[in-house]
Amino acid sequence: MDIRTLRQKHGIKLKDLANMLEISSHELSKYERGLVCPPNSLFSSLSDIFRVDVFELRNAHELLIQNAIPGEGYTTAKSSHQEIFYSRSATQSSSLKVMDLFCGTGGFSYGFEQTQGFEVVLGLDLLSDRAKTFSLNHPTANVIVDDIRYVSYEKLTSVADKPDVIIGGPPCQGFSSIRPFRTLTEKDSRNNLYESYALVVNYYKPKWFVLENVVGLLTHEGGKTLNAILQLFEQTGYTVSWKILNAAFYGLPQRRERLIIIGNRHAKSFQWPKPTHYFNGRSMAGNICGQKVSNLPLFGVELQPAITIMEAIHDLPEIRSGEFATEYRKDIEITSYENSMRSKKNQLTLHEATKHSPKMLNIIRNAGHNRHALPMGLTTSGFSSSYSRLEPDMPSVTLTVNFVHPASNKCIHPYQDRALTPREGARLQGFDDDYVFIGSRAQVVKQIGNAVPPILGKIIAQALLEQI
Ligand SMILES: C[S@@+](CC[C@H](N)C(=O)[O-])C[C@H]1O[C@@H](n2cnc3c(N)ncnc32)[C@H](O)[C@@H]1O
Repeated sequence: MDIRTLRQKHGIKLKDLANMLEISSHELSKYERGLVCPPNSLFSSLSDIFRVDVFELRNAHELLIQNAIPGEGYTTAKSSHQEIFYSRSATQSSSLKVMDLFCGTGGFSYGFEQTQGFEVVLGLDLLSDRAKTFSLNHPTANVIVDDIRYVSYEKLTSVADKPDVIIGGPPCQGFSSIRPFRTLTEKDSRNNLYESYALVVNYYKPKWFVLENVVGLLTHEGGKTLNAILQLFEQTGYTVSWKILNAAFYGLPQRRERLIIIGNRHAKSFQWPKPTHYFNGRSMAGNICGQKVSNLPLFGVELQPAITIMEAIHDLPEIRSGEFATEYRKDIEITSYENSMRSKKNQLTLHEATKHSPKMLNIIRNAGHNRHALPMGLTTSGFSSSYSRLEPDMPSVTLTVNFVHPASNKCIHPYQDRALTPREGARLQGFDDDYVFIGSRAQVVKQIGNAVPPILGKIIAQALLEQI
C-alpha cells in the first residue's frame, strides 16, 4: 500500500501525519502524490508508524511514481491536451539546431541561443502555459504540448528538422526502474521519462545530447539508477560523461547544483567548461557512489567572487507584503549583473510581493538563517530551511517552485519582511527582465523555479561549439 492509502486506512489526517514526520503538509502531500521520492529516513519513519515492511512501502511508492502523470499539477490522469504553437521566424542555415524535450519555460534553450551558434527548432512540454512562454521567447521553435511518452515521432518530424543537439531534463518521477535499451519500444506505456527521452535520442541520433537533472539522481538507489541511465545511452551508441555543475561558479547569484550528462555519437568525450567564479561555502557534492565528485574549481587564480543576492536585486524598489512596483530604483548605482538583467524597454514587471497572513508576517519579522532561529512556539513543523531569511552577501540557496511562500523553503528577502517576488526569483535564475512569462502568477512562479538557469545552457553550449 502507498503512503496515502495507509494513512487513510489508519484514519490519520494529512496534517497529523506530517507533524509526526516533522515535515510540512505540503511536502507530505508531494510524497503522497508520487511527485518526489521520499528520503530513506522517511520510509523508515513511516514503516515504524504503520508497522509495515520498509521494502513493501518503497515498492508501492515506486509503482505510484510510475503511474503518475507528471507535470505541474502532477495530475493523476493522462493529459488529453495537445496543441502546437508554430514558429514565427525562420532559422539560419549556418546555425546548429536544438530540440528541447521537457522544454518548460525555456531557460536551458535560452542559454544555448545566447551563444548565437544554436537555434531551437522544437520544444516539447506537457503543460500549455510552459509551452506558451517557451514559444514567445524562442521564435524559431515550433512548440508541441504533449506527453513525451505518447507523442508520435511522425508529429515531431512533421514540425522540426533533424536536430544537432537534443537537450532536456526529465523530471525525477523517472527515477523508478530503468530497463535495458533493447527491451524498450516507442509506444510502450510503461516507458518512464528517461526511457522516452532516450528513445527520441535514438530515433534522431543527434551528434550530442545534454541531459540535466537534480543532484539527488547521484545517490538514488546507491548510484544504480544513474548507472542504468548511463548504460541506456551507451547502448544506443553514445559516449557519455557526467558532472555536477554549480551555477554560482559560472556567474549566477544562486548556488544551484545540477547533474549534467552529456553524450556524443562519435566517441568524443566532452571537455567541461571551467568555472569563472568562486565562493566559500558548503556543497552537496562529495564522495558519492565510489567516485570523487568535485564541484569546486581547482584553485583557479583568475576566478571572480560569486555574485551575491543583493548584487542581483538591489536595484528593485523596496516593497511590503502585498505591494508591487513598476519602476526601477533611480537612487543607486547599479551593479554590472543588474545592468545585464535590466529591461531594454526600461519596464519593471513581476515585482509583486505575496500578501502574507498576519501570522506569517510575525514569523517573517522574526526569521533568521534557519527555522531554529525563530523564537520557540512560532512554528510547529517544517524543514530546517523553511521560514528563513536569505543571506545578502552570498549567492542564494537553490530556488524552489515555492519561492514566494516561506513555509517550505528559504525565500525571505535579506532585509525586507516578505518572500521574494517573481522578478527577484527570475533575476536569481538569470532570466533578464525582458524574458516574457505567460500564465497566472502561480504558474509563472513555478516556471521560474523549475527552470534551468540560462547561464548553464550557455556555458555548455559554448563548450559544445568549441568541440563541434
Ligand atoms: C524541470 S522542468 C524543465 C525546465 C526547462 N528545461 C527550463 O529550462 O525552463 C521539467 C518540465 O517537464 C515537463 N514534463 C513533465 N512530464 C512530462 C511529460 N510526460 N512529457 C512532456 N513534458 C513533461 C514539465 O511540465 C516541466 O515543464
